This record gives sequence, C-alpha cells and structure tokens, in this order.
Amino acid sequence: MAGSRKPLIAGNWKMYKTSGEGSVLVSDVVDAIRGTEDDVEVVVCPPFTALRSISTMIELDGLSIGLGAQDVFWEEEGAFTGAIAPRMLEEFSCRYCIVGHSERREFFGETDETVNRKVQALFRHDITPIVCCGESLSVHDAGNAESFVRDQVRGGIAGLTPEQAATLVIAYEPIWAIGTGRTPVPEAANDVARAIRATVGAMYGPPAATAARVLYGGSVKPENASMFFGEPDIDGALVGGAALVASSFADIVHAAR
Ligand code: PGA
Repeated sequence: MAGSRKPLIAGNWKMYKTSGEGSVLVSDVVDAIRGTEDDVEVVVCPPFTALRSISTMIELDGLSIGLGAQDVFWEEEGAFTGAIAPRMLEEFSCRYCIVGHSERREFFGETDETVNRKVQALFRHDITPIVCCGESLSVHDAGNAESFVRDQVRGGIAGLTPEQAATLVIAYEPIWAIGTGRTPVPEAANDVARAIRATVGAMYGPPAATAARVLYGGSVKPENASMFFGEPDIDGALVGGAALVASSFADIVHAAR
C-alpha cells in the first residue's frame, strides 16, 4: 500500500444475509474493528433489502463504517421492473456501489458498456463506484491477464473527468480466485494493479492515477491478507466469503493497518 492512499476494506456480502441477519453482522464487525477508524476505511455492501436497517444503525449509533450497494441501474427512474436507481441508494447514504462484478457479468449480462453507464450514473449522484475487473482462468493461463484487464478498465471508466477518476475504486478480482481458495502470488496481483493504475494515468493523467485506489479481491482471508497489503499498488481488498464472518472480516481490517 502507498502512504498517501487510505486503505479500503470492502465486504461484498453477495446474496447472503437478510436485513435482520445483516444488522447482527454489522454490530459484531463494528465491535471487532474498534480503534482502526483513522487508519482504514471499512465499507459493507449488503443486499438492497438490508440497506435501510444498516444505514439507520450507522446513523443512529454514529458508526464509522460506510455503506455500499452491489449494483445499480443507470436511469434516474422509469418503467424498469426490478431495477434500483442511484437516487434510491442516495436515500440510504450509500457512499459506494460495486459495479461490474464478474458474477453480474456472468449471470446478468453485464458488459463493459453497461458498467460504464452505471459508473457515470453513480458519479451524477456522488456515489463512488467500485469497478470490478478480472480475467478468467483461460485468459490467465494464456498469459493475457494484463491486456484483458486494461481493456475492461478502459471501457468501464470511459468518459469521466480527471477529478472523478481520482476518486475511483477499482477492484482487481481474477475470476479463478473468487470463492475458490486459490489466489495469485501477491507480486502477480500487484503487476495487474500497477497496469490498472497506468491505464487510469493514460486516460486521466498522473494525479488521478496516484489518487485512485486499486483493491485486490478473490479468496482474501485473514491468513493471506497482509501479503497482498504489502504490495505497493494494492490499496485494500474486496472481500466476499470472509466478509460474512465478523472475526475474519475484522482480522482483514486489522491486517490493513
Ligand atoms: P471471495 O469473493 O472473497 O469469496 O473470493 C470476492 C468477491 O467476489 O468479491
């Protein structure tokens, strides 16, 4: 991690936890990460249905964690059955929204173009996108991870201002590492993170590249987290499975200090 960028640990709960279960998890996490506030930014991204209860907890109890959603639609409102607009996330003080997770690309037809529409829509509402990218096993085995990820990032973050680009969070998540227990060696993950940062720099200039945060995601656990956080271009983690267990998530937060 580089000194000027505050580490970010984001929990992606995926399709786990009801609203009630989520409130319990948040209060356990908050207890376990007490004292880390100044050093690490912590965000939880529950399902839409738990946003209200958790945002109320954050507000009433003055909790130091941030809230994020897992997806959004790009229109302001309209006849889009099942979709959620940025304004609806704003109502619950969501600071972040995951966009383009590989599971959304695989099961819900997300493309770099739809990712980009969502990223732009979020910026219109001052919600910071956590833009996900990452290669499949076959692309990885062919040695093409870096160029594949660069293309994904170029498409996903097009059309921003340099000021917006400077606030971006980009999560590098090799698909073959998600939920599998397999991870790249930290140096290899850092190579891709550096390529992502270089892409931001080529599009929006060096200050944006220096300020944007790049996370690693894919089987991050308390046992391996600090290895990734030791890399200069990795500014934190997007955590799936381990974010559902308060003690594991908290251990990852402590490792980021
Ligand atoms: P995992 O998921 O930590 O369970 O591998 C990460 C993610 O999909 O964001």
